[in-house]
Amino acid sequence: MFCSKIVRSVLAAVLLSCAAAVPAQKLINGYEPKWWKEAVVYQVYPRSFKDSNGDGIGDLPGITSKLNYLQKLGVNVIWLSPHFDSPNVDGGYDIRDYRKIMAEFGTMADFDRLLAGIKQHHMRLIIDLVVNHTSDENKWFVESRSSKTNPYRDFYIWLPGHTAPDGTRTPPNNYPSYFSGSAWTLDPKTNEYYLHYFTVHQPDLNWENPKVRQDVYSIMRFWLDKGIDGFRMDVIPLISKPTGMPDLTAEQLKDPPNAYANGPHLAEYLREMNREVLSKYNVMTVGEATGTSLAQTGSLVDDRRHELGMIFNFDAALLRHPDFGPPQLGPWSLPALKAIYDSHALVLNKHEWDTVFLSNHDSPRVVSTFGDDSPEMRVSSAKLLETMILTLRGTPFLYEGDELGMTNYPFKKLADFEDVAVKNNYKAEVETGKTSAASFLAVQAQFTRDNARTPMQWDSSPQAGFTTGTHPWLAVNPNYKQINAAQEEKDPASVLNYVRTLIKLRSHTLAFVYGDYQDLDPKDEKIYAYTRTLGEKYLVIENFSSSPVTYTLPDGLKAATLLLSDIPGSREANVSTLHLAPWESRIYKQ
Ligand code: GLC
Ligand code: CA
Repeated sequence: MFCSKIVRSVLAAVLLSCAAAVPAQKLINGYEPKWWKEAVVYQVYPRSFKDSNGDGIGDLPGITSKLNYLQKLGVNVIWLSPHFDSPNVDGGYDIRDYRKIMAEFGTMADFDRLLAGIKQHHMRLIIDLVVNHTSDENKWFVESRSSKTNPYRDFYIWLPGHTAPDGTRTPPNNYPSYFSGSAWTLDPKTNEYYLHYFTVHQPDLNWENPKVRQDVYSIMRFWLDKGIDGFRMDVIPLISKPTGMPDLTAEQLKDPPNAYANGPHLAEYLREMNREVLSKYNVMTVGEATGTSLAQTGSLVDDRRHELGMIFNFDAALLRHPDFGPPQLGPWSLPALKAIYDSHALVLNKHEWDTVFLSNHDSPRVVSTFGDDSPEMRVSSAKLLETMILTLRGTPFLYEGDELGMTNYPFKKLADFEDVAVKNNYKAEVETGKTSAASFLAVQAQFTRDNARTPMQWDSSPQAGFTTGTHPWLAVNPNYKQINAAQEEKDPASVLNYVRTLIKLRSHTLAFVYGDYQDLDPKDEKIYAYTRTLGEKYLVIENFSSSPVTYTLPDGLKAATLLLSDIPGSREANVSTLHLAPWESRIYKQ
């Protein structure tokens, strides 16, 4: 009796101490380790990746046929841009049926085969969750607009607007749309305005309605139960609208995304989504944080809040052009770019995981924007940019074709473009006489999202091997004979082979994932030199210029063992003064 009492109390004490010390997962440099923090993500824009049936449109079987290529590249996660049934007004970001595949992309069986193939190739899949808005052909909106008493009326945001004494109608407020014009459209059937931050065909959902939220969660479960590994969440900070939706002030009109983003209920919705859906799966989430400042990052991703895993902050990617209003491409400087990454290191704490990216389906090609896409400099500058993205802190995101150093397309006339943003802006800027067609088109050529959407360049056969047809949905870049995967495969000095080596190095080096970051020389106009330290120290040096640079490291520091240079034959080691070729980047182990 006595003995068993002791046993029992010892047992209780042991159990108690176990409960008190539930072994917290071992932190690495203060960070909670997660598979998605260690992953390299590769974005596939399905329409442009690979066409399997010759109709000129990329499709799901096309992606499945390229899984060996992606596995060999070394990426761990594929982010698939929208693959859902859609009238395709905005590249599929206008969803008609969330549980159906875009007919041109294939069938649900093709999706299941793609997902199974991705798993067999030891990769994971995240899909695009576009739930700030739907297509106007979505059955919810078809119902909603049919009458003021329809049960789906409150799925969207309807308001009567203003009526002048002479009967003239004006919108409820002065909100501009991302794609020019008012964000409100008067619907004749019920004589009320509906809100659309994007095109008139993309009505915004009313997240204040709990039924909307429950329907979104059920769509999420539908895909998660198939085995996907998470979501990229389209314009997620926009789902909670500003209280009362008053007019934007003159100041706010300078940056509407910031005024629209991070509304009063955002945290509540994200937490509910996390509690009801995400927390039940081992998934990765990344929010497209339009309008969100660096300081606001913590209010979306802090891991103690149980909301999102990470977000895309656009400060670096948008250094050269705004994401709102008439397009313009401005100059940029290396110190300005470094200042952005330095501020991330300073502002974000160990609970706020970051992303690193300079490209996606909405930006021009990275080498044409931040590198030098001339024939002499393209290869080394593309390699340098990938070096930076894969060695900075945060989960790196590459966009299809970056690994080949694909460039902007030589767009000339309006008919060359597909993007609805270009067409709408043309109406607003050129047809109203604000800008000449020639200067508008010249800027668009450098800036348009279509630059990212020209077909992947697989080989030197007609249409770059993207399609066996003769009419790809968007023209293939005429430089495909020089820039394509087949030819880069054979060339040991190609961007492709370099990026493979780089991804391997990153994947085996936790210092590039969780290590501390230090910018050694924030002011230098040509050289970006930084260290990543996690016990071991790595030094990365990048010459962001098209001329050779002799550079002496600060504080008597020496570059020790050369691990990798993007210039074949480069071998300086154990030196403090480096002789860098144009756009050379090097990684040293210290
Ligand atoms: C996001 C998408 C973009 C789309 C917009 C509206 O910014 O990345 O392609 O046009 O949302 O859905
Ligand atoms: Ca096809």
